[in-house]
Amino acid sequence: MLNHHRFTDYDPEIEKKVEQLLSQMTLPEKVMQMVQVCPESMAQDDLEKQVRQGVGSILNYYSPAGMNRLQKIALTESRLKIPLILGNDVIHGYRTIFPIPLAWSCSWNLELVQEAAHIAAEEARANGTHWTFAPMVDIARDARWGRIAEGAGEDVFLGEEMAKAQVRGFQSPLRNGRSLVSCPKHYVGYGAAEDGRDYNTTDMSERTLRDVYLPPFKAAFAEGAGTVMSAFNDIGGVPASANSFTLRQVMRDEWHCSSMVVSDWNSVGELIPHGFAADLKEAAKRAVLAGVDMDMMSGAYANHLAELVEEGSVPESILDEAVRRILRLKFQLGLFAEPYVDASEGAREILKPEYLETALALATQSMVLLKNEDRLLPLASDMGKIALIGPLADDHHEILGCWHRIGKDEDTESVLEGLRQVLPDTDIQHVPGCDLTGEMEPDFETAVSAAITADVTVMVLGEGELMSGEAHSRAYLDLPGRQQELLEAVVATGKPVVVVLMSGRPLAVPWLAENVPAILQAWHGGLRTGRAVADLLVGNANPGGKLTTSWPRSVGQVPIYYSHKNTGRPPEGRGTIQFNMQHRTLYVDADHTPLFPFGYGLSYADYSYSDLEVVTPTITADETLIVTAVVSNTSDVAGTEIVQLYVRDLAGEVTRPVKELKGFERVTLQPGESTTVRFEIAAARLGFHGLDNKYKVEPGAFQVWVGPHALAGLEGSFEIQ
Ligand code: NOJ
Repeated sequence: MLNHHRFTDYDPEIEKKVEQLLSQMTLPEKVMQMVQVCPESMAQDDLEKQVRQGVGSILNYYSPAGMNRLQKIALTESRLKIPLILGNDVIHGYRTIFPIPLAWSCSWNLELVQEAAHIAAEEARANGTHWTFAPMVDIARDARWGRIAEGAGEDVFLGEEMAKAQVRGFQSPLRNGRSLVSCPKHYVGYGAAEDGRDYNTTDMSERTLRDVYLPPFKAAFAEGAGTVMSAFNDIGGVPASANSFTLRQVMRDEWHCSSMVVSDWNSVGELIPHGFAADLKEAAKRAVLAGVDMDMMSGAYANHLAELVEEGSVPESILDEAVRRILRLKFQLGLFAEPYVDASEGAREILKPEYLETALALATQSMVLLKNEDRLLPLASDMGKIALIGPLADDHHEILGCWHRIGKDEDTESVLEGLRQVLPDTDIQHVPGCDLTGEMEPDFETAVSAAITADVTVMVLGEGELMSGEAHSRAYLDLPGRQQELLEAVVATGKPVVVVLMSGRPLAVPWLAENVPAILQAWHGGLRTGRAVADLLVGNANPGGKLTTSWPRSVGQVPIYYSHKNTGRPPEGRGTIQFNMQHRTLYVDADHTPLFPFGYGLSYADYSYSDLEVVTPTITADETLIVTAVVSNTSDVAGTEIVQLYVRDLAGEVTRPVKELKGFERVTLQPGESTTVRFEIAAARLGFHGLDNKYKVEPGAFQVWVGPHALAGLEGSFEIQ
């Protein structure tokens, strides 16, 4: 693939055009460029009026013909004829819907994720979208938070790599010399919402913000992401959409980042309920001074910015900077040269066979085999009868996942269809058994009798698409509705049961993990879900996905993540004796460990790890750590293992996590094959923010592990001098 487009690079020719246009703009015209509106949320007259006044951007609009009409008004009826830029939520596919982003992170396959983002960009751009509100790069460690589905999970290093891969994919060169611009979001700290409820307050140290939540954004900007979305949440008393520390000091002054900042939907207006602004005028003032360039849907800028400039509360130079960033994007995207979209071309560019192949590959690689007792899977190909039970077994909708926008049920393959494709001679008896929510009367009896007469039962259980995503947080992390009862009734038959779990988050399902011999986590796998599940169940494909979030045993454990601090009284070891008892960081009524750890996932192959060698036992802060280990496939099937490297900085100027991922490699091994996996990690990536909140790589001793997940691995050590 050719180099992707870096919207953060300056082109002197474009700068000249921007200045020339800016110099002709009146104050009201500058203000209107900084406004983004949604056609579906306003009256047509008002919309057209704003377009004539030179509104800068349209969002959430999927009609190429409608967009052409609006563009024509902008180009023929507004004074300066500046084209509109259309932003849409192309989160995990445009029409070819891929697995949800949390799932695709479980592939740990950066090339494939990049390819999926590229396909999404091709389809979207050919249909008139110029700008995607993706990737979501919020670190998420609380499975209650519905938006955990939209990101790459809990880890900073993986989050950075996934952010970069998506920016590269979305901003890759498209057909006919076109490009699309990405928008990492939600800047920043949004994933740390208290109690997992969406939009809730966050409060954290500046160090945690810098060590955990900011790095994926920094990585996305370094890759050339042209825009960023400011978040809804309040960070320690200052809402993210009026936060001059994160938006000006960190982004502009420290990172020298030129990307354009768009607010989230009404997040400027929401400064009022936050108690950060008394009215919309004050909200506009605080947001623009903090560095929000474009106001999505609050009306604050449209109604008050000009007045604020005229009365001297906001310098016009701030508006000039914002407008420059907006115009620059429009020139970079070629919108002045090619403002319209050819709707017939758009229709031809979707759902191409090669796109569907990529969707299948990503769905297959995203799924995680959580358990496989006595090698129940893969299913034998001569299976006489399968009972296929559960509310998601023949589902064509929920599998699209949250934010599928124009994805269509009719484009999907259900698990039932997938199994029929791969096992044409097997008798498959399908019984829903119950619905997802418990509203309908269940039919456990038919399900149980199907299980009794079958050779094996496959149950497809989990969450619907509207149980995760924006504004869809949960307080319980179990199987919703009456699915647990259905599961227990079927398991009670004593017949072999495989559970395919679909969800937008890790679920707390200890009973399932204990009592069901084989579990495949399929997430919401997009339009090829059915075939991917079927291929994995019968062994046409070998599971290789690994979790990118720790799975809790109970809601009480969240937030749960592997890179926690050790504390003074760690859970392992003796702890401190006080009142004649060991005092440790534990619960009295539950295990503190995850149900499944970060990085975990099984395969039909077996792998062994040996011969860890720390090639560079001593390095300086400018050098590179080199570690090798031998990974062998000790089984008789080929497979792909995701080999992970973790470090621990033993003592620091501030406390350090017990483990941090610093490298991973996907290695494909034939039966009996061994390979030496070599990690080269710049010491510059082993630092943290110290007492002064500045990034540093500190001298000292480190442990290092190479292994299959966060809680296992060969151990070595090294030192930074
Ligand atoms: C609100 C969501 O928080 C954001 O992720 C999305 O991009 C915008 N709405 C636009 O739809």
